[in-house]
Amino acid sequence: MPKISSLAAVIGHPVSHSLSPKIFGILSDVESLPVLYKKLDIAPKDLNAFVSATAKLDLFTGWNVTVPHKEKILAHVDELSEEVKAIGAANVVHFKSQTATAFNTDVYGIKQTLHEQDVRLQGSSALLYGAGGAAKAVAFALGREKVAQVWVVNRTRSRAEALCRKFGKLFPKTKFRTATVNQCKDLRVTLLVNATSVGLPGNAAAFEFPHAIDAETLAFDLIYGPKLTSFLTQAGKRGARTVNGLDMLIWQAIATWEIWFGKVEDRDGLKHKLRRALS
Ligand code: ATR
Repeated sequence: MPKISSLAAVIGHPVSHSLSPKIFGILSDVESLPVLYKKLDIAPKDLNAFVSATAKLDLFTGWNVTVPHKEKILAHVDELSEEVKAIGAANVVHFKSQTATAFNTDVYGIKQTLHEQDVRLQGSSALLYGAGGAAKAVAFALGREKVAQVWVVNRTRSRAEALCRKFGKLFPKTKFRTATVNQCKDLRVTLLVNATSVGLPGNAAAFEFPHAIDAETLAFDLIYGPKLTSFLTQAGKRGARTVNGLDMLIWQAIATWEIWFGKVEDRDGLKHKLRRALS
């Protein structure tokens, strides 16, 4: 066994389902850099204690941060990337020279997935389900890709309204509007995105879809486990193209690796290798 040169971890609650250790294991082999990558289940009440204890030890190169810490982690780092400042959520922390910096590579993962799916974004309309940290990363990606109209539907309407205000200011050329579950039925959109946690094990609920769905519509679920969520099954039955969150997960991991360890030589080749290994 080669000497470990770096320690990294995914912190979340729960994390037992996470594929990140497997992905970083493959990246470590391919890039010939022995990184030990652990899953750490940190309950919300333990986040403060965990961060202060480990910061003093200077152990980690970085963390991936997942549900439910993506927003709370901002209060525990020294610096925020421009994207994290805009979004208000991070999925990566990098420790360097006694400084902890938060990044958001989910945005890159979302953008790459949509480009791979060949979906026309500029000038189009999208329907976004959810208004939490994951939905904010989607809203940012769609605003930056110059989507003309983003409809946001969320169980708690006030959160959807807050999201629309925030991203409407940031991207004046994109109209962010809330929609009720009933209004969804009459929308005409080319993209449906599930950024809620509905579909994760133990969280089931129904989605209301637009009437006008066809093969031109892409349904994108950020969830990657299970592979086929009720969101994707329902959209698929209605004739939409579907993609789950696995590609996003892989792309964000490659971007995370580059933040921690520097550029990889062949991003696309690495993506295909990881996709084959995980499929
Ligand atoms: P994340 O950072 O992963 O986005 P989050 O901030 O907890 O996590 O957001 C979870 C999202 O899933 C929210 O949009 C939540 O709706 P609320 O804002 O009303 O809480 C949505 N969600 C979770 N469970 C849901 C359910 N059973 N039905 C509808 N929406 C649900």
